[in-house]
Amino acid sequence: MVKLTISSFDGTPFEIDAATGTTLMENAVRNSVPGIEAECGGACACATCHVYVDDDWMDRVGPPNDIEKDMLDFAYDVRENSRLACQIRLSEAIDGLSVKVPERQS
Ligand code: FES
Repeated sequence: MVKLTISSFDGTPFEIDAATGTTLMENAVRNSVPGIEAECGGACACATCHVYVDDDWMDRVGPPNDIEKDMLDFAYDVRENSRLACQIRLSEAIDGLSVKVPERQS
């Protein structure tokens, strides 16, 4: 299990105990975090699971790959720390991860 904090756009923190091997998106949806739409179900084909990774975690989470980068072109207000939550698979290495949901998805 790893701990996650996903903050909705209004600042409400959702503290989640998540199984390793699952994705950040799956846990956001399962816990009804507002603003994570995940229309494609995790196929990296919709960009509606966009999150901002807290700066302290960027090194450990790492940058998006080329396919994810292309998909992020469709997201709203993309920043240096933007990632698609369906492409972040949880492991002990990112236990404690903290991310924020953008104002809107597109
Ligand atoms: Fe569609 Fe992440 S759920 S890109």
